[in-house]
Amino acid sequence: MSADPEVAQTFAAAAGAADLADWLTKADQWVTGMYAPGHVPSPAEQALRLAWEFLVRRVSASLQRAREPGRLPASGGVLAFVDGLNLCLVVDYRFVLETPSLRVIEAIKAPRTVFDVVDTLLHRPHETRTELKRMLQSSHRLVWHRDVLIHVDRREEPNVFGPSIDTLHLDELIAARFAHLKVDEQPRRVLELGTGSGLLSASILRNMPGVDRVVGVEIEAASAFCTHRNWRANTEDLPGVLDRKASLVIGPYRPDVLAGSFDLVICNPPYIPDDPAAAEIDRQQARTVAVAGLELLDATLRASSKLVSPGGKLLLVVSSVSPPAYVSAPEGFTADWVWGAEGMPVLFEVEEVFARPAWLKRLVDAGGLTLAGDYYEHRLHAVWMTRTEAA
Ligand SMILES: C[S@@+](CC[C@H](N)C(=O)[O-])C[C@H]1O[C@@H](n2cnc3c(N)ncnc32)[C@H](O)[C@@H]1O
Repeated sequence: MSADPEVAQTFAAAAGAADLADWLTKADQWVTGMYAPGHVPSPAEQALRLAWEFLVRRVSASLQRAREPGRLPASGGVLAFVDGLNLCLVVDYRFVLETPSLRVIEAIKAPRTVFDVVDTLLHRPHETRTELKRMLQSSHRLVWHRDVLIHVDRREEPNVFGPSIDTLHLDELIAARFAHLKVDEQPRRVLELGTGSGLLSASILRNMPGVDRVVGVEIEAASAFCTHRNWRANTEDLPGVLDRKASLVIGPYRPDVLAGSFDLVICNPPYIPDDPAAAEIDRQQARTVAVAGLELLDATLRASSKLVSPGGKLLLVVSSVSPPAYVSAPEGFTADWVWGAEGMPVLFEVEEVFARPAWLKRLVDAGGLTLAGDYYEHRLHAVWMTRTEAA
């Protein structure tokens, strides 16, 4: 895959497709054609065949690792994000004995949310719509990004958050900053506060070999179990990584539960201010704790100089629905807002808020949520805070 439009167009033309997204939906048959007797593939065709086979190998291996802990169904759908976050491939998989066969049924360009299928549902042939609807109805959510597969079983884990588009943006930001560094230049000690389904910490365990300690803290027990299952599946082929490097604390983050400081602290906190009318009821509901209330954000900022080593970094995300200017760099930190004052527009799809019209109205009236056509949109604001003060 290439983010360069000209290169992408050249390859698509070589494959006889309108663009690479179009080619990907036919790639399995196209590759079979490459092996037809007498066909001599051009260099561009060979490069495309290799790219396709590489992708299939990676996604298949992730599925095989996830099958091991026993919950993954023998067939289903995976949302595979490739080319940064420029393409979401809706992949149908079917295990035949140990091996999954894969087929891309849809390629969604520039997805604004993890399952951005509404336009697709309207404009695709009925066979594609049927397959997408089947996936939407499945209780298994499978998201693949940067060689990590996250599996959430919604029947058993209804309150587990994400992975959401916020999660994937953070994973991209972490990769852009650290993944290309030499092993000895990568952060050594990493903390994730509020692990949810575990994508960010799993990605660090899998993709950043220089990291030698990953600690996660998660308040909700089912989310912590989900995190651990996903950590295990995604490190299954990396002997000793889970046992040697990873630990998970189940419970609310409190400064006294963690010893020492970290070179990198990541937190995608609940960032929606509570609905004051329902705050008491919400406190009882795990799913709302995953998205609303600013306690984890406050606690992280308050403890930042204890949590982050000198020269270390804190990566946080908030949103236009958070109170304006709620987050500023604590003393001894500089702040680098990744997407500037405008932020990154994404769809807002928080069912808990939609279920409370008064809460929704309050967020819209405060200006943080806007109606874009039929959808609500908000803006993500990610910030790297770097601790500058001497030890
Ligand atoms: C917005 S979700 C993000 C999950 C995950 N990091 C991701 O990016 O997909 C926030 C997570 O923080 C957890 N959480 C909320 N308050 C917490 C607290 N005080 N201590 C630890 N975890 C907390 C929630 O249960 C939820 O899993």
